Amino acid sequence: MSTSTLGVIGSGMVGAGVARRAVDAGLDVILSNSRGPQSLADLVAELGPRARAATPAEAARAADLVLAAVPLAAHERLPRSELAGKTVIDPMNYAPTSTWSVPELDGNELTSSELVQRHLAGARVVKTLHSIGPKQLLDLHRPAGAPDRTALPLSGDDPAAKEEVADLLDALGFDAVDLGTLAESWRSEPNTPLYAFPYVGQPPSGLTVHELVAWVQAAPGVPVSAARVKELAAAAVRGPAGFRM
Ligand SMILES: NC(=O)c1ccc[n+]([C@@H]2O[C@H](COP(=O)([O-])OP(=O)(O)OC[C@H]3O[C@@H](n4cnc5c(N)ncnc54)[C@H](OP(=O)(O)O)[C@@H]3O)[C@@H](O)[C@H]2O)c1
Repeated sequence: MSTSTLGVIGSGMVGAGVARRAVDAGLDVILSNSRGPQSLADLVAELGPRARAATPAEAARAADLVLAAVPLAAHERLPRSELAGKTVIDPMNYAPTSTWSVPELDGNELTSSELVQRHLAGARVVKTLHSIGPKQLLDLHRPAGAPDRTALPLSGDDPAAKEEVADLLDALGFDAVDLGTLAESWRSEPNTPLYAFPYVGQPPSGLTVHELVAWVQAAPGVPVSAARVKELAAAAVRGPAGFRM
């Protein structure tokens, strides 16, 4: 079944960017955040008649497919019962701080998406849209078959859910490369060659971490082929988990 309504939980940089691309691609979107639908009125007006705002629980219930674009630290507040039976896209990256970290992630016992799947036990979690920023997503979409079409890695434990998400990525203008299960999704997490930098190219040297993040967020997209995604995933070596600011 192809997605016609995308639910978006978390309508910040990633949620709003994906929603913008989805509306341009002809999908309906239901946006939500922690502050309530009224706080999304400007974004809904900007996106036009294909967009509306709701609570996270309503967005989860009403959508065919749900993007959970919240900070990983908030994943336990995702509406678990309403997401049961749904396919949930997980673009979340682990970013431990001095006040929040997850020992099972620090010890590489789980990937961050396995943690999310554990909370959303009744849902089918598919990891993708985590290794590319919203600016590059809006730059790099291309029609199917375009020679410079960009590919995104995707991981999940349910083959049908992965197919559903690959179809959505196709509708958004991207190819998908299946990297295997959620346990294998570390191959595209922060600190691996596939994470973020292929889609922006080489940053200038000498930047602080904060400057680097700002540079990546503003950089024009660089197309990445499916063959390159496979090559970078195969070259990944598991190191420390998480992006540290
Ligand atoms: N920024 C990037 O370039 C990038 C790229 C790839 C992946 N990611 C990942 O994508 C996720 C979102 O990143 P972002 O940059 O879009 O963050 P962001 O701009 O800070 O937006 C976070 C959104 O999550 C919402 N939120 C927080 N807690 C919530 C809850 N309990 N229920 C519902 N909504 C909640 C916030 O709503 P309120 O504002 O109402 O609190 C906000 O809309 C993160 O996990 C990040 O690691 C980010």
